[in-house]
Amino acid sequence: MSDTRPIGIFDSGMGGLTVVKEVMRNLPNEKIVYFGDTARVPYGPKSKETIIRFSIENILFLLKNNVKLIIVACNTASSVALTAIEKNFKVPIMGVIEPGVSAAVRISKNKRIGIIGTKTTIKSRAYEQQIKKINPSIQVYSVACPLFVSLVEEGWLKTKITKQIVTDYLRPLKNKDIDTIVLGCTHYPLLKPVIQDVLGKKVQLVDSARQVAYGASQILEQQGLLTNRKKAKGQNVCFYVSDEPDNFAQQGEKFLGFKLNKVRKVSNV
Ligand code: DGL
Repeated sequence: MSDTRPIGIFDSGMGGLTVVKEVMRNLPNEKIVYFGDTARVPYGPKSKETIIRFSIENILFLLKNNVKLIIVACNTASSVALTAIEKNFKVPIMGVIEPGVSAAVRISKNKRIGIIGTKTTIKSRAYEQQIKKINPSIQVYSVACPLFVSLVEEGWLKTKITKQIVTDYLRPLKNKDIDTIVLGCTHYPLLKPVIQDVLGKKVQLVDSARQVAYGASQILEQQGLLTNRKKAKGQNVCFYVSDEPDNFAQQGEKFLGFKLNKVRKVSNV
């Protein structure tokens, strides 16, 4: 059995490209359709109802592209919308919370885990609940870091101001003796060096994107949905956005490390 349909991935904007990168690395023969909801980003400060509505619209768009699996590559949408949306669709849908949590629980030795994410993600307590489900005795310390998304979108990955902001946001975690921290937002992997520097080498950073790609390969394998075609020449990814594509293409290069072939704007998601 071989299923050559693409994998659909969506995010509020370009942050989900961190997931695209890992899926490409893990499943190089699979085609990907990516949708970045750039006209409505950020989701971080929006209400649960709005995020559910946007997520459903994004999924309907991906389904028009005949996808076989949908990855909600947005921590905010995964935190507040996943449970509500997954029961409405037949296609397998996975979020980014569970894979990140499983890795963190596996890695942490002293059972003290930090979580950072957008305001909505942290307020939802989705990470904390998922961790407690696995092991109720784990101590979880969560901090919202809303400015991190803007820093990444601006390309300020290692400036003095970035270091200062990261230091200020992470201060509450410094005396909690955490040995593991989950980067609970798609943008944060780009700030890894600064976060590591601020927290010190003893703290392990869990990049959900990597775990998500692994989780996706498992779902495809278990459900007999893997392709057996060999990788076609050129890029295997189609990029769609809901606002003007030029900025996405430019910034997207920073996330992916290669030039994005073609980014198309969709008017009616
Ligand atoms: N993609 C969002 C997340 O992972 C960050 C950007 C936003 O606020 O929309 O939480």
